[in-house]
Amino acid sequence: MLVRKARLQDATNIYELVNSLSADGTLLRRAFAEICENVRDFTVAESDEGVFLGCGALHLYGPHLAEVRSIVVRPPAKSKGAGGKLLQALLQEAESHGVGCVCLFTRIPDFFFRYGFRVVEERTALPDKIYKDCQNCPRLHRCDEVAMARGNLPKVSILGSKIEAEQLVRLGG
Ligand SMILES: CC(C)(COP(=O)(O)OP(=O)(O)OC[C@H]1O[C@@H](n2cnc3c(N)ncnc32)[C@H](O)[C@@H]1OP(=O)(O)O)[C@@H](O)C(=O)NCCC(=O)NCCS
Repeated sequence: MLVRKARLQDATNIYELVNSLSADGTLLRRAFAEICENVRDFTVAESDEGVFLGCGALHLYGPHLAEVRSIVVRPPAKSKGAGGKLLQALLQEAESHGVGCVCLFTRIPDFFFRYGFRVVEERTALPDKIYKDCQNCPRLHRCDEVAMARGNLPKVSILGSKIEAEQLVRLGG
C-alpha cells in the first residue's frame, strides 16, 4: 500500500468516494470544483497495483489550527490499515507545518482516540471551524458529531472570535 499526496488526476475518485457517504451526513458533501481547488489538501492511499483505496484531507486554518476532513476508505479496503495510515500521514503533515492543534468532527470518536485525539466538550473552543462550516450547516443546532482535537486548543482564531462563535451556536446564527 502506498500513501501519497493527491494529484489532480485523483479528484474524480476522491469526489465519488467522499460524496458516496455524504447523504447520511457521515461526511460533508464536497463539490467537484471544491475538490479540484483544494486537491493539495488531500492525501490518498492506493494498492501496490495503483488502485485507489481511500483519501483524507488536512485543511490549514493557520499556525494555530488544522482540521482532518473527508477521511474515508472504500468499503472493500476497510480494516487493512489504510485509514490509520492516511490519518498518520495527515498528522505528520500538520507537524511539518508546525501546527499546534489538529481538530476534527466525527461520529466515530473511538477510531480517533488511539491516535491521540480527545473530545472537545465545548465546540466553541474551535471558533474557526464554526465559522468555516457550522454556521452554514443545517445541523447547527442538532449536530450529532463529536468535536475532537489533538494538541493544545487554539488561543486565537482567524475567521471569527470565540465570543461571536458562542453567540452563533446559542442563537442560531
Ligand atoms: C474510519 C475509516 C476511515 C477507517 O478506515 P480503515 O482503513 O478501516 O481503518 P484501519 O484499517 O486503519 O483501522 C481499522 C480499525 O479502526 C477501527 N474502526 C473502524 N471503523 C470504526 C468505527 N466506525 N468506529 C470505531 N472504530 C472503528 C476498528 O478498530 C478497526 O479495527 P477492526 O477492523 O479490527 O475492527 C473507515 O472505516 C471509513 O471510511 N469509514 C466511513 C467514513 C468515516 O466515517 N470517516 C470518518 C469521518 S470523521
